[in-house]
Amino acid sequence: MTSTTLRTNTCGELNSKDIKKEIKLTGWVNSRRDHGGIIFIDLRDRYGTTQIVLDPSKIPEADKLRREWCVQISGIVRNRPKGMENKKIVTGEIEVEVKSLNILSEAETPPFEIDDRVEANEELRLKYRYLDLRRPIMQEHLLARHKAAQAAREYLSSQNFMEIETPMFVKTTPGGARVFKVPSRVHPGKFYALPESPQMYKQLLMVSGCDRYFQLARCLRDEDLRVDRQPEFTQIDIEMSFIDREDIYLLIEGLLKNIFKKVLDSDIKTPFLRLTYHEAMSRFGSDKPDMRFGLELKNVTEIMKHSDFSIFKSTIDKNGIVCCLNASDCGKFSRTEIEELIEIAKTHHLSGLAWIKVEKSGKLESSIVKYLPDKVQKELINAVEAKEGDLLLFAADEFEKSVTALGQVRLHISSKLKLMDPKNYKFLWVTDFPSFEWNEEINAWQAKHHIFTSPLDEDIKYIENEPGKVRAKAYDVVLNGVEVGGGSIRINKRDIQTKMLQVTGLTYEEAEKKFDFLLNAFKFGCPVHGGIALGFDRLCALLCGINDIREVIAFPKNKSAENPMDDSPQDWTPEFLKELHLKLDIVKK
Ligand code: AMO
Repeated sequence: MTSTTLRTNTCGELNSKDIKKEIKLTGWVNSRRDHGGIIFIDLRDRYGTTQIVLDPSKIPEADKLRREWCVQISGIVRNRPKGMENKKIVTGEIEVEVKSLNILSEAETPPFEIDDRVEANEELRLKYRYLDLRRPIMQEHLLARHKAAQAAREYLSSQNFMEIETPMFVKTTPGGARVFKVPSRVHPGKFYALPESPQMYKQLLMVSGCDRYFQLARCLRDEDLRVDRQPEFTQIDIEMSFIDREDIYLLIEGLLKNIFKKVLDSDIKTPFLRLTYHEAMSRFGSDKPDMRFGLELKNVTEIMKHSDFSIFKSTIDKNGIVCCLNASDCGKFSRTEIEELIEIAKTHHLSGLAWIKVEKSGKLESSIVKYLPDKVQKELINAVEAKEGDLLLFAADEFEKSVTALGQVRLHISSKLKLMDPKNYKFLWVTDFPSFEWNEEINAWQAKHHIFTSPLDEDIKYIENEPGKVRAKAYDVVLNGVEVGGGSIRINKRDIQTKMLQVTGLTYEEAEKKFDFLLNAFKFGCPVHGGIALGFDRLCALLCGINDIREVIAFPKNKSAENPMDDSPQDWTPEFLKELHLKLDIVKK
């Protein structure tokens, strides 16, 4: 029901079935055309636009109407004159002959046109976000987000999950992200942390016997921003007891299926493809590979062992690899275009890329071909299935560096060749992440996911002496090259937790001081449990066919984490500081 005391209908529903009806509409003046003394207005609300027709000789105020004025009209629905119909919109066959006009409020000239076809400046859009949100496309995004939230709640409730809120003022949690802190007025000198995720609390809820928890949880992270990162964002946060990884996969596939059906009426294919972290890195140079196109990497180290190219040889001698990307059909790339690819590899820490073009009847063309004996050339052609018109690109370095750089080149080529259709939804699970990663800055091992993540049973034996070999019961769900979610099965045994902590240089007792309430709780009968969090903003953006999550957040921050509309963050006033018992002494960077 959208009719109210001020309107009988919305601006997006009247059609030829309503001819001759007396109706009332409310909305904003979207556009105005003057035709020989008769005024045509497209009246807009959230639901659409309706053409209304005013005769200033009968309604003198009509002459005053300008863009974005807010009005109420009453009138009679009639057919548009022959040839003037607009088949593209629901209301395109009719117009409303206005009998009375009530100006609800006037509007200043807006700083940009409220029109999807007009690209306004980003800062201006954020400054006047309330006007930006009037645009039909933004209304569509908000509606898609609402539907996705409803679909998530509906599905999870049907699976016996309880929605439980967790606190926003917390003690620092063990996730990797930097947290925001809030000074306490009541406890001078003390701070609350804002949660980077509800991680510890959802695990506690499992100890509490809640069994199945979810929350559309706001998370706050003091990170550098990107198109898919905001300091405030939302997760569909989930935790379950007495489960293993397969239970999570099944649940999330069902959840995403329901969301895509309800928002887009699209049937996504399940089960999702699965790749281990190592496989994803080796074949696509990314732990969140975009599977909408091929362009797979191939390890050609064994073949290149027999080449005479010094860079390949020395890399292989130092236990590095030679990795090849067959950029099929890119043989026509110009020198400048190839230089562009080399620059991308360089920004990802590779010293350069070698390349070969495949000419007629499989003849290889490049300055390095003279270093490749015939046998090597033949084996290479077979291994990467090279054919006329292909461009072969080679990265020679340590495994991680080579595949990562080539993975970025792969993405660049795919966007250049427009291989990424946003409506082609390719999901996958990336599994078996390493438990630890080496942090060069602090010269120590760190948990890659978080320290409560369970190792694979068969890798427990490596924890003490070869932590780099330990794989975790951790998984990410990836859609079209975007990590839309991640989680893990948690450790619920003290001996394993102790060993894992030791790798990062912490004793159990030290850890108890840091995460005391969680580790204490685990002493009181801790169920086997695990969970996942889906990045809700990222998911909504993908549902809307875009990458920038700001487009699906009503009031996002700009690239510098500011809000140009309310001017936050704001200066701390002396009164403010006094109340919090603080003195400000800003240390210049
Ligand atoms: P993680 O840190 O991987 O896991 O976050 C889960 C998902 O949240 C999204 N995400 C973000 N979205 C927008 N802006 C950000 N700054 C941002 N950071 C993360 C991503 C990511 O996959 N507690 C664990 C989950 C668990 O183990 O259950 C967690 O928060 O889509």
